[in-house]
Amino acid sequence: SSLHDFLQRLPKCEHHLHLEGALSTKVLFELAERNNIALPSDDEAFRSPEALEKRYQRFTSLDDFLHYYYIGMSVLIHASDFEALAWDYFQHALSDGVKHAELFFDPQAHTSRGIEYSTVLQGFQAACQRAEKELGISSLLITCYLRHLPVPESLSAFDNEQVQESYKSGAVTGIGLDSSENGFAPKMFEKLYAKARKQGLRLTAHAGEEGPASYISDSLDLLKVSRIDHGIQLAHDAELVQRIAREKTMLTVCPVSNVVLKCVKEISQVPIRTFLDAGVRFSINSDDPAYFGGYILDNYCRVHEAFDLSVKEWESIVRAGIEGSWCADGRKEELL
Ligand code: ADE
Ligand code: ZN
Repeated sequence: SSLHDFLQRLPKCEHHLHLEGALSTKVLFELAERNNIALPSDDEAFRSPEALEKRYQRFTSLDDFLHYYYIGMSVLIHASDFEALAWDYFQHALSDGVKHAELFFDPQAHTSRGIEYSTVLQGFQAACQRAEKELGISSLLITCYLRHLPVPESLSAFDNEQVQESYKSGAVTGIGLDSSENGFAPKMFEKLYAKARKQGLRLTAHAGEEGPASYISDSLDLLKVSRIDHGIQLAHDAELVQRIAREKTMLTVCPVSNVVLKCVKEISQVPIRTFLDAGVRFSINSDDPAYFGGYILDNYCRVHEAFDLSVKEWESIVRAGIEGSWCADGRKEELL
């Protein structure tokens, strides 16, 4: 329809995409075979790509998803595996009308398996450079730290020589915080964020996906992040809604993810209307598209179906996304 075309053509920025979450079941099984990685034999979901796909349709929570997410990424071994994964994402991004992408990855989930950080980064960077040249899609990389692991491990991962080199060279722009949320409060990562801030890195954190609104305010006050990933629980705190609107903090909202992981019952319960009415800035993103059955354009379409937004509202959402991006001002002007 013309509306689908309109949504497709909007110059989208994606700010919340885990590269490991772009691993399709097809590629997962191919790499498991090629790299000789044994998948769990005691879980029937791993019998075939089709069975696994089916299992993905009945996640019960963030942690239930994360269990499959960490097993899935265990098939990624060589730089070429990481490159192919990111390249696969960029193909979808191109057809969905993405112009600029800020991409998360989880270094600790690979170094803990004996994969060197430089291998991961090399693969991702190769795909990003190719996407810029051949597809005209600009991108930035963001290392996320895993909140379910002991805090000292995030600090030593941050201090790793190869990781530090990637920050200093500008290969990686900022840090994020992801994985299981409840019970892993922002405060635990104050020192990590203080170090990153001192180095001039950009800062974001997952907050208020499953966890309480106080994790959002604590991420702002203690971690001093400049944006919030998810943030949907914000809607339960009217005062905090006003603050986020006033301070123009961008939320990177992932509507399909929120439904699939049972954070909300249906798309209409994602507080899109609340955010629009209060002047809260947000972008719409896909999170882990291969696991949740929808890339960014699917998220745009589902939001449109649920909220029947006007052309003006869509244009303001897309503009907020460009303005909230971490790319150079010159790039933003090209996109506006
Ligand atoms: N890692 C990958 N996707 C995630 C999500 N939606 N929340 C927390 N950690 C994640
Ligand atoms: Zn996420």
